[in-house]
Amino acid sequence: MPLVTSKNLLERAVQDRYAIGAFNANNMEQVQAIVEAAQEERAPVILQVSQGAIRYAGLAFAAGLVQIAADAVDVPVVLHLDHGTDFEQNVRCLRAGFTSLMFDGSELPYEENVATTKRICEMAHMCGIPVEAELGQVAQAGEALTQEQVEALMTDPDQAAEFVQRTGVDSLAVAVGSVHAMRSREAALDVDRIEAIYRTTRIPLVLHGSSGVRHDSIVEAIEHGIAKINVATYLNEAFVDGMREGLEKYADSVDPRKSLSVARDNVKERVREKIRLFKSAGRISADGGFVEAPKQFRSAHLGGTEE
Ligand code: G3H
Ligand code: ZN
Repeated sequence: MPLVTSKNLLERAVQDRYAIGAFNANNMEQVQAIVEAAQEERAPVILQVSQGAIRYAGLAFAAGLVQIAADAVDVPVVLHLDHGTDFEQNVRCLRAGFTSLMFDGSELPYEENVATTKRICEMAHMCGIPVEAELGQVAQAGEALTQEQVEALMTDPDQAAEFVQRTGVDSLAVAVGSVHAMRSREAALDVDRIEAIYRTTRIPLVLHGSSGVRHDSIVEAIEHGIAKINVATYLNEAFVDGMREGLEKYADSVDPRKSLSVARDNVKERVREKIRLFKSAGRISADGGFVEAPKQFRSAHLGGTEE
């Protein structure tokens, strides 16, 4: 089916207390694995492309791969720019057919983050495209930060409310204890902080750096306002391990498809695992519509009904 925007998907997810997997892709095999997993799990899915992936594959190529993959399935697929760092990149992606954008101004002075985010929102909203922004900094694995430094980078709920009100942003990436590119699953999230940010902003929240977060903490975060969960490292590991496995298994072969198929299957299994963890499996019926969640599971946050 044609690509969809992330706006209604995320608002429905936060209301029905599940999260949409946002999976990073860099090549054809990863795109195929992610979309096939979503189709088999009957789940809405966000395929996201970083600036690094755009440099690697080329913007038109990356967008074209996802659009073709989406046309072949009957579950909703979003094409999202991950960690866009300037206005021009967002405009180029909008023109290339992206249905969801991100401006990551988290390392800029606050007022500059507000001004650029607002400008991108005004531009994107004219075309009906939603925007994700980032407030607070989600550190990178390997940065030698003390616990105090990580906490100092976390998102402040009151500042988040002001940021959302001034920019008009549609979803907000928050720094709540996760760290980008962790290889071991040991981070626990500050769920009280997630709840506080959600209550002050009342928009879907985004978790970055999820590969290093404990599953029990992810499940709790979904209950308190996280509606989009980004996964990259966990999938890249699966792809590289699959390539190694394939090259060993087919050591005498010079057919790259043998190893690439192992890599693709590995990624697909991990995407299915995360879709189930995020409770977005089974949300799309056989005829491509949304399966209504029982009212008692709706959150009160966005006009849902109390349990
Ligand atoms: O934007 C992408 C995600 O934040 C990736 O985080 O590599 O730790 O899964 P991850
Ligand atoms: Zn990220």
